[in-house]
Amino acid sequence: MKLIHDLAELRALRAAWRSAGESVGLVPTMGNLHAGHLSLVEQIQPQTDRVVVTIFVNPLQFAPGEDFEQYPRTLDEDLAKLAALDPDVVFAPSVEAMYPAGYPIATQVAVEPLVNRYCGEFRAGHFTGAATVVTILFNLVQPELAIFGEKDYQQLLIFRRMAADLHMPVRIVSGATVREANGLAMSSRNRYLSQAQRDQAATLRRVLLATGRALLAGRRDFDVLESDGLRQLTDAGFEPQYLKIATPTLDSPSVDAADFVVLAAAVLGSARLIDNITLQDPALRA
Ligand code: PAF
Repeated sequence: MKLIHDLAELRALRAAWRSAGESVGLVPTMGNLHAGHLSLVEQIQPQTDRVVVTIFVNPLQFAPGEDFEQYPRTLDEDLAKLAALDPDVVFAPSVEAMYPAGYPIATQVAVEPLVNRYCGEFRAGHFTGAATVVTILFNLVQPELAIFGEKDYQQLLIFRRMAADLHMPVRIVSGATVREANGLAMSSRNRYLSQAQRDQAATLRRVLLATGRALLAGRRDFDVLESDGLRQLTDAGFEPQYLKIATPTLDSPSVDAADFVVLAAAVLGSARLIDNITLQDPALRA
């Protein structure tokens, strides 16, 4: 496992792998790695000859007033966790290396209208910042395969649409959300929660499960299901931002639809938590 900070060194290594006919898998992260990230590395490793994990807290995807300064930067701990999996490269560039022409940069990748919906309504510029940095990472690493977590369902769809629209020569796959024993989706932002709040936070999953079960049972009164879910979150001490039922492609659902995703974002203490459920989730049938 080689730690690289320098873009030129990464490019040289990528060129050598290309000459040797080796394929590359990319796992983009912002660090502060948890079991969810590690599962993405494990999932991609058997699929490509080489694996690059990137660790970069991307300023472009934090809206004004968000937690860019406080976001946990734990490179040494991250490297210790990755050592057991031994990816070929951990690429951890500086902001100056990633945005050499100055920050903010002039060119941004906006996948509209999806960037403005759901989380996008509450996080101005977030998805455009994320799509822009992922485009830069794709250009630098030139992976055949890239993997993203399904907890960030909207982000995953945005990246897939971006890659399709811009003919990016990369296949995007996803990894299942990894959860704490109580159902809370693993997230680097969970470290903002106290132990009591972590217990409380599991309600987000319970509300999504209840909504998913209602849809599976044939309920199609989407507005009522959404407002019930929001009320349950408020009663449990969250400040919910949204809870929405959508089609798997994140359009408004019709009552004739058979497949759905339910997405929610809610603030608990100083953590903004997101989660989602699809009707394929095995827990709905448990
Ligand atoms: O999901 C994340 O951690 C980030 O949005 C990503 C994909 C690493 C881009 O900065």
